Amino acid sequence: MRTSCTLAILIIYCLQNYAHAKLLPEDVIKEENYPVETHSIETEDGYLLTVHRIPNEFGIPVYLQHGILSSSLNWLGIGKRRSLPYYLWDHGFDVWIGNSRGNSYSKGHKSFKITDPEFWDFSWHEVGKYDLPAIISHIVDATKQRIFYIGHSLGVTKFAVMANQKPEVAKHVRATIGLAPAVYEKNIKQPLVRALSRFRKEFKSAAGFLRIHEFFGQNIIFDVMRKNICAIPALGTWACSNFMFFLFGYSPKQLNYDLLPTYLSEFPDGTSVKLFVHWLQQMHTDNFENFDYGRDMNLKMYNSSEPPRYNLTKIETPIAVFYSDNDLITDEKDTTRFYNEIPNKLGLYNVGHSFNHGDFLHGINATELVYQKILDIFLTILIQEEESEAKIVTQSILDVPKYNFIN
Ligand SMILES: *[C@@H]1O[C@H](CO)[C@@H](O)[C@H](O)[C@H]1NC(C)=O
Ligand SMILES: *[C@@H]1O[C@H](CO)[C@@H](O)[C@H](O)[C@H]1NC(C)=O
Ligand SMILES: *[C@@H]1O[C@H](CO)[C@@H](O)[C@H](O)[C@H]1NC(C)=O
Repeated sequence: MRTSCTLAILIIYCLQNYAHAKLLPEDVIKEENYPVETHSIETEDGYLLTVHRIPNEFGIPVYLQHGILSSSLNWLGIGKRRSLPYYLWDHGFDVWIGNSRGNSYSKGHKSFKITDPEFWDFSWHEVGKYDLPAIISHIVDATKQRIFYIGHSLGVTKFAVMANQKPEVAKHVRATIGLAPAVYEKNIKQPLVRALSRFRKEFKSAAGFLRIHEFFGQNIIFDVMRKNICAIPALGTWACSNFMFFLFGYSPKQLNYDLLPTYLSEFPDGTSVKLFVHWLQQMHTDNFENFDYGRDMNLKMYNSSEPPRYNLTKIETPIAVFYSDNDLITDEKDTTRFYNEIPNKLGLYNVGHSFNHGDFLHGINATELVYQKILDIFLTILIQEEESEAKIVTQSILDVPKYNFIN
C-alpha cells in the first residue's frame, strides 16, 4: 500500500513537472509581458513552419534562426530585457523567431504525416533552400522592409545555403550575424560527436535498418526524465550542469543553475537523422558541401561522384561573426576559415570570458558581451543607409534644373 502510494505521488510529481515543461514559446513570451503573434508558413515543398513574432509595427524586422536540435524556445532562456529577442524588441526592432522543419513546433506538412519517412527526408540543405526563403519572403511581405538575420550555429549554415541557392531571397537581408557558425566543422572538439562522425555511414545504415527517421524527437518518457533528474537538488544540478559542460564547453560562470531544468527540457529538440548525418559529414570532410549519398546516388542526384560544394564567395550579404575560445562545437580555426572566405565582412569578434557554444543563447552575460555589439552593428548599418539615402535626396534636390526656380 505504502509503495503504491509513493509511486502514485512520484508519478503525479513527474507529470506535473512535465506539464510545466511543455510551455509553448508564445506562452513564455506572453508571460514576460511582451506582445506575440504565431504565424504558420508553408514552404515550397509543403512543410508548415511555426514562426513567432514579437511585433513592433514601426521596427526593422530581425529574423532569428536556431541551429541543430533546437527551437525558437532556446532564444528565450535568460528572460525579460536580457534574452536576444526581448533585448532587440526593447530597442525598437520587430522580432521574428523561426522553427526549422521537424522540430517540436514545425511538424506539419500538407501531404506527409510525421510517421511517413518522406517527411524526414531532409538535411540542412533543404532547410536552407526552402524553409529560410519561405520565412524571409513572409516577413518581407508582412513588413515591406528588408531584414536583419541572426543565426546560431547551424542557423548560419542554413543561411549560407540559402544565400547560395536563392540569391534573389538573400537580397532582402541587410546583414547577417553568425553566432558560433557551424559551416566548417573539421576541428570540432566535442568528443562524443567527433567519435560518431567516424561512424556516420554505420549510423545512417543502422537508423535506416531500424526505420528511425527522426532524431531526438521529444517524447514523454525522455522529457519526464530530463525534467526530473535536473530538478533533484544538488545531485541533479551536478549531473545536468556537467552534461551541459560536456556538450558545449566548461563555462560555470555563464550558467544559471536555477534554469537547468528549463534548458534541458527544451534541448535537445528533434530533427531528422539525415540532417544529423549531414552534420557529421561536415566534421569528416574539409568542405562545405551538399549531402553525400554515396558514389552511385551522387551521380544520379548531382551528376558528379562527389557532392558539390557550396560557394561562399557568392554570398553578397555582409556578415559579422562571433565565436569564443571555449566552444566545443565550433572551433576558432573553422570559424576563421569561414570568415576569411566570405567576401563581405562586418567583423570577427572573439567573445572570450570562457563562453561556450550554448552561452550565445543563454550565457548570463550574453547581453553585455554579445547582444549589445549586435545592436551596435545594426544601428551603424541603419545610420549608413539613412546617410546614403539622404545623399540621394540631397543630390536630387541639387540636380533640379535651375529654370524651375526662375518663375
Ligand atoms: C554531367 O557531367 C558531364 C561531365 O562533367 C557533362 O558532360 C554532362 O553534360 C553533365 N550532364 C548533365 C545532365 O548536366
Ligand atoms: C564562386 O563564386 C564566385 C563569385 O560568383 C566565382 O567567381 C567563382 O568562380 C566561384 N567558384 C567556384 C569554384 O565555382
Ligand atoms: C555579468 O552579469 C552579472 C549579472 O547581471 C553582472 O553583475 C556582471 O557585471 C556581468 N559581467 C560582465 C563581464 O558583464
